[in-house]
Amino acid sequence: MAENKVLTPEEKDRIRRMKWWHQAKFGMFIHWGLYSLIGRHEWAMENEGIPVAEYEKLAKKFNPKPNAARDWAKLAKRAGMKYMVMTTKHHEGFCLFDTKLTDYCASKQACGRDLVAEYVNAAREQGLRIGFYYSLMDWHHPDGAKCAKDEAARKRFVKYIHGQVRELMTNYGKIDILWYDVNWPLTPEQWEAAEMNRMVRELQPDIIINNRTGLPEDFSTPEQHVRGEPEGRAWEACMTMNDSWGYHKADDAWKTPKRILRNLITCARDGGNYLLNIGPKPDGSVPEESVRILNTIGGWMDKYGHTIYGAERCNVKRSAFANFTRKGNTLYVHVYFWPGQEWAIGGLRTKVLSAKLLPKGEPVDYEQDEFRVKFSGLPEEAPDNPISVLELECASVPVQDMVFVRMNRPR
Ligand code: GLC
Repeated sequence: MAENKVLTPEEKDRIRRMKWWHQAKFGMFIHWGLYSLIGRHEWAMENEGIPVAEYEKLAKKFNPKPNAARDWAKLAKRAGMKYMVMTTKHHEGFCLFDTKLTDYCASKQACGRDLVAEYVNAAREQGLRIGFYYSLMDWHHPDGAKCAKDEAARKRFVKYIHGQVRELMTNYGKIDILWYDVNWPLTPEQWEAAEMNRMVRELQPDIIINNRTGLPEDFSTPEQHVRGEPEGRAWEACMTMNDSWGYHKADDAWKTPKRILRNLITCARDGGNYLLNIGPKPDGSVPEESVRILNTIGGWMDKYGHTIYGAERCNVKRSAFANFTRKGNTLYVHVYFWPGQEWAIGGLRTKVLSAKLLPKGEPVDYEQDEFRVKFSGLPEEAPDNPISVLELECASVPVQDMVFVRMNRPR
């Protein structure tokens, strides 16, 4: 479909800029700020009604160990992630970067270092792409709420925000992703978001920008759920491993590695990316449970990552025990509830040329008719954990048609 369409120069440029990102599929989100000292979610300041003067004291205490980001970057690489996105400033307004525009930043408070610089270096050391999260909403800045009703305040605040974005886009070399968040309380016009992004693209011609200024830009950002966008629109699902983005001492709602991998597979199947979060502790160390989960995921990605990276949109979706990814004519069957020796995929309207069990590639017996492809002689128990994978080489792009099955199955 995309082939017949004449592309505008902007669309062509977007395809060029986003090539690596579509290939990458899997990234690490990092939520880190003063809220980690409270240890009750990154919204603690607002949820618990903490006054600015009281909250600010945390900046006198926040002094993480040097280069904690190195461990994040190694962990991300270990997990098979290809990029990182770190909160340079969350809603609390505290900047982890060195800024000339406020003293409320890591370099001018207890820490005395530029934590964004440490992060950028760590990501580069591991060969990972670099993203900056930046919250437009600001609970600390004197004009952060007033700007909604007072034009002079709006002008000052927008100047501050644009100025900080300029600093971020100027002081750290090549940045791959700009990940805005919450545009309360202004409209994109009031934020002068189009002008801001024009500046960003002048400074960083290859950058990829998300949609949270309120302008669509390069990709959509479904949060805490995996629901794709129609073909032609890029998207990235962001998700926590427990229920909090920032460090939360007591939140034990951890997802299993299987759940997380299933989400990643669904993203890859539907043309999206998966941005999975860690919330480091005040000293910068990663919660043990997150480390354990990411190591397990890394073990699986070592064997099966090639079924994820570079996957293309896949029309095969229906099964109650498996999910699918596709590369060209190759279909990968990701079996998360292993059914045993014999089972089938219905409605596959493409000729299967060969079937193999990964990672080793032992041939799998199968029979195919117009309604199903049926496998036999498979192990009774799941051959791998948490998800086993079959590779089906097909004669053309695999297509599943369940309506055909329902209409035509002999009765
Ligand atoms: C939200 C939340 C926030 C989190 C973000 C991640 O908008 O306000 O705390 O940073 O989503 O997508």
